Amino acid sequence: MESEIAGWFAVIFRFVHVLAAIMWIGNSLLFTWMELNLIAPRADEENPRPDLLGHLDMLHGGGVLHLEKKLIDPKAIPVPLHWFMWQSYTTWISGVLLLIVAFYSGGGTALLDATRTTVSGGTAIALSAGGIVVWWLVYDTIWRSKLKDKPAGAVLLSFVLLLAAVDFFSGHFNGRALYLQTGAMLGSAMSANVFFHIIRNQKKFMASLKAGEPHDLKYGKQAKMRSMHNHYMTFPVLFMMLAAHFPQLTSAARAVPVLAVVIVALIAVKHLMNSRYHFKHWLAAIFGTFAAACGVIALLLAAPVEAEGIALSPAAGGAKLFVGQGCAACHQQGSSQLAPDLAGIFNSEQVLADGSKVMADEAYLLESIRQPQAKVVRGYAAAMPSYMHLPEDDLAKLLEYLKSL
Ligand code: HEC
Repeated sequence: MESEIAGWFAVIFRFVHVLAAIMWIGNSLLFTWMELNLIAPRADEENPRPDLLGHLDMLHGGGVLHLEKKLIDPKAIPVPLHWFMWQSYTTWISGVLLLIVAFYSGGGTALLDATRTTVSGGTAIALSAGGIVVWWLVYDTIWRSKLKDKPAGAVLLSFVLLLAAVDFFSGHFNGRALYLQTGAMLGSAMSANVFFHIIRNQKKFMASLKAGEPHDLKYGKQAKMRSMHNHYMTFPVLFMMLAAHFPQLTSAARAVPVLAVVIVALIAVKHLMNSRYHFKHWLAAIFGTFAAACGVIALLLAAPVEAEGIALSPAAGGAKLFVGQGCAACHQQGSSQLAPDLAGIFNSEQVLADGSKVMADEAYLLESIRQPQAKVVRGYAAAMPSYMHLPEDDLAKLLEYLKSL
């Protein structure tokens, strides 16, 4: 019953999270696009307007939206003046609730990879939550320090420290949890940027205007730096949040370099998209970046990992299929949340939905893969797709793998 209630909350939180994230990221992309495409006033204009910073015309809804960016006259503050922050806060709050329901509520074991670590579920939760807070403090300290005046150095330091954190977590967490943890750290820092820097500076700025001081661009500048960080993090964070659907990547032995390539490539793609109007070959460069990233990741996945002495065992082919066919996305090691944990399943007794019991012999396992709806395990929805289409020898390999668990 408890897990059923948690399941429904996961549905609600996940949907709210996705919806709010779409609204937030959509705003971030559109606002940055508008800023980048503002046309600055011409120097030789006849009646120059000293308050005008730029303008932009956009075709939409049967008319032209004429947008002006201008300095605000403290005596004529526009009403209503729209603020944008709740999309971000809603994304963060629903994200934290989802993290609790999906990963923490079962005691934290859903985070762990039992083959890599012996830490307890409670420790895993503490590491995960602590990691989110510590990452924010580290990132914020770097970008408050003098180093921020040397952005290349600050970016490099932030990136190296992030990879160090990923490396640390990869020693304990399973692949899916590792991607989500990294996404949660970055996403939380993005929301904290909105809360502690962007909105706070806007509040200071509005207060100074209301006190009758002239429009000071200083506040906007500070907020804009954090806003650009958020803008460039959108693609990598989205990718990480969808990681449950990319089992080929989340199960990779070389999690750190793979994630590093993903992050760099997606930031580069965003940058190339932003350069669209002044860099002629932007589209070709995006395809090039994409191809190069896929190539490097393919090499990282293909190159043998030293510790994998089991690479030649009969079940190894099945283990690969288990990931490649998407089984691993539902059947996660050490977790029975989405689907039964298959550890030790061979020749064990299974309880079915109707209360009857059955022995998990070879015939049962094969039927479970080919026609999962024929016998549904108690406590689960009949959610597993049929793998009727798999060739016989793939089925045999999968069977060997299941028997080896
Ligand atoms: C969409 C999620 C999903 C995917 C993908 C998936 N499964 Fe399942 N699987 C389930 C669920 C849920 C159950 C339990 C309900 C049932 O018995 O149908 C289950 C049940 C099983 C069982 C029986 C477990 C038991 O405790 O008796 C086996 C064996 C199994 N899956 C193997 C596989 C293999 C092998 C693959 C890949 C070829 C796979 N599954 C892909 C969700 C999934």
